[in-house]
Amino acid sequence: MTPQRYSLGSIVLHWLIASALVFQIVFAESLEGPRGPDLFARYQLHKSVGITILLLSLLRLAWRYIAPRPAAVPGPKWAMTLSSLVHFGFYFFMIAAPVTGWIIVSTSKIKVETLLFGIVPWPHLPVPASWGEPAEFLHHFMPNVAIALLVLHVAGALRHQYLLGTPILSRMLPGGKGKAIGALLTAAAIMLAGLVLAKVVDPKGATPPAKAAAVPAEQLSAPAPASTTPEPSEEAAKPNETAEATDEAAQPRDWAVSKGGRLGFTARWNGEPVEGSFTRWTADIAFAPEALDASTIEVSIDLASVDTGDGQRDGTLTGSDFFDTGRFARATYRATRFRAEGGNRYRADGTLTLRGVAKPVPLSFTLDIDGDKARARGNASIDRTSFGVGQGDYASTAEIAGPVAISFDFRATARN
Ligand code: HEM
Ligand code: HEM
Repeated sequence: MTPQRYSLGSIVLHWLIASALVFQIVFAESLEGPRGPDLFARYQLHKSVGITILLLSLLRLAWRYIAPRPAAVPGPKWAMTLSSLVHFGFYFFMIAAPVTGWIIVSTSKIKVETLLFGIVPWPHLPVPASWGEPAEFLHHFMPNVAIALLVLHVAGALRHQYLLGTPILSRMLPGGKGKAIGALLTAAAIMLAGLVLAKVVDPKGATPPAKAAAVPAEQLSAPAPASTTPEPSEEAAKPNETAEATDEAAQPRDWAVSKGGRLGFTARWNGEPVEGSFTRWTADIAFAPEALDASTIEVSIDLASVDTGDGQRDGTLTGSDFFDTGRFARATYRATRFRAEGGNRYRADGTLTLRGVAKPVPLSFTLDIDGDKARARGNASIDRTSFGVGQGDYASTAEIAGPVAISFDFRATARN
């Protein structure tokens, strides 16, 4: 026998999913918001609720086939077709929205683990990277379609309930009989609950680790005392003064860096290498193998020019958790001490100032000089945590390793 109303399971799932979807779409706005220390937590919450919607929707679909449903409300053909199309569209959205989100995170260059509600590890989908872009397009586009479906869906329900006198709400809501306004208010309250929750929820406050990290994060991001102390000593070792103290005859040559050079880095995220480079940097180079004592190198890097091939990740890197370019726009490397290591190999003992923290960083490089032209290639390794790059949750080296490899390869032309 066909029942008069939906089973309790269907009803509970309908309203749970409906309010969770409202939450999800409204809360998603905060993913575009300020990239503070809680961005990671906001993404984790978005993924957790999204995957929950996926699981509930699969259950809902299975339920649909197991538990008998009330017969479709009779009406003109267009209305019945439209209603079926809207329901089909909803089911499609309830599955496809989370799956496309899941594909985005599974194909992202930086693989961030998903830990549902901070507890249940959730795997990545084994899909090719080429699926990432279409998935991203659909993931952003589909919620708009779903909002249009919701307008049609609610209009259809109200039309039946109040215009045609078929109390359709009672099939999906306890107490939705006749023209009672109570059922409508209950439906509105359920939807509003999702919306209000999305507006008030603050994953930073709600997630203990992020909250705990907020205090040291603030302390760490304040300019460390170390940032100012090395400056005077570097000043004291100004190139000209050093040059005067050494062999007058051997003067370093000034070099202009040619276009097309690369200053890059490789970090490791969950064991996977993540490569990036800086597209804007300048270098003042006074260097000659025969005048090492008088040689100096000063490199200035515009941190906002970081490019890892992913705009979202670059945004995170320039944000307050990583480079904090709003406060520390540039990183500098200054070296005034060099050592020949045989052949074309050299070592520089310089100081890297990054995020307001100055630390000694040795650099190994090779230099091939051919007349007025030279090519320099080299590398160094830094511990990102000692510069405070990675605050809050990112300070942990469980996901992003501490050591970061720096490399460069550029050509230069001598000015003298
Ligand atoms: C995003 C939010 C919503 C989604 C995704 C959604 C989805 C659905 C789906 C898929 C069905 C078909 C159930 C089936 O037969 O398998 C359905 C039925 C129904 N929904 Fe919604 N719904 C939402 C919000 C609402 C709201 C706000 C109302 C109240 C105004 C409502 C009232 C109903 C009613 C009365 C039915 C039963 C229709 C019938 O008996 O033919 N829904 N909903
Ligand atoms: C029903 C479920 C879901 C809905 C309705 C939904 C909705 C949205 C919306 C509207 C945005 C755009 C936010 C903005 O930039 O303004 C978004 C972004 C995003 N969502 Fe979801 N989402 C869902 C599930 C998921 C799931 C399950 C995951 C991952 C497991 C996920 C991962 C993402 C990611 C990574 C972004 C940022 C994409 C980018 O901007 O490149 N979403 N989501």
